[in-house]
Amino acid sequence: MNYKLLSLGVFLFAIFLVGSEAPFIKMTNAKCQSYNKSWVEIHYCRLKAYSRNKTSLNVNLTVLETANNIHLRLKLMKRANGYKPFLWDYTVDACEFMRKRNQPVAKIFWNMIKDVSTVNHTCPYVGLQSLNDFHRPEIPVPMPSGEYLLLLNWIFDRKPQFATNVYFTLVEDP
Ligand SMILES: *[C@@H]1O[C@H](CO)[C@@H](O)[C@H](O)[C@H]1NC(C)=O
Ligand SMILES: *[C@@H]1O[C@H](CO)[C@@H](O)[C@H](O)[C@H]1NC(C)=O
Ligand SMILES: *[C@@H]1O[C@H](CO)[C@@H](O)[C@H](O)[C@H]1NC(C)=O
Ligand SMILES: *[C@@H]1O[C@H](CO)[C@@H](O)[C@H](O)[C@H]1NC(C)=O
Repeated sequence: MNYKLLSLGVFLFAIFLVGSEAPFIKMTNAKCQSYNKSWVEIHYCRLKAYSRNKTSLNVNLTVLETANNIHLRLKLMKRANGYKPFLWDYTVDACEFMRKRNQPVAKIFWNMIKDVSTVNHTCPYVGLQSLNDFHRPEIPVPMPSGEYLLLLNWIFDRKPQFATNVYFTLVEDP
């Protein structure tokens, strides 16, 4: 798969979407897991319910040793007899991204979380990191209604360290 072409395609779709009706999205579950507790300790990873159709995501974790080399693997799954890969399976060099903002797909996610997270700086990362009351998920491309799972795998020094996975429901035309 040519990721440059893929991200260009997604970017063009995103432009196409601007101004059109936003689909209804609700986060339904969040699951975080550390694969290496001597590097990442997860304190809190939970949705808060505001109403029947609105939730917010809160994540709080500590990076115990300085992380200088960080990649994020972003994989979208759609439910159909279990979760199947859908649309994206995409790895971003997070340190390069924070320096250059050079990835259109990552940029869409970044724009969603930048005001509610503590990660607004370049690498390295160490210490407490948090995402506070994130409640405005958006989807940059047209997607069919359904149940989705966004797998976010965080890779330090080329080894997976933790995952922050978010389940959500999407309704095309609310
Ligand atoms: C786990 O974390 C420690 C401490 O930062 C690190 O030295 C080690 O390489 C990590 N192990 C794996 C498999 O990533
Ligand atoms: C969300 O819930 C509120 C109140 O319960 C309702 O007014 C609103 O129409 C709902 N929005 C959607 C998109 O379902
Ligand atoms: C994150 O969790 C730690 C440990 O539970 C707590 O001491 C800290 O206040 C929390 N910070 C934020 C910003 O939620
Ligand atoms: C952090 O946020 C400020 C204010 O929104 C912005 O000007 C700055 O460029 C951001 N820095 C990084 C590294 O994202």
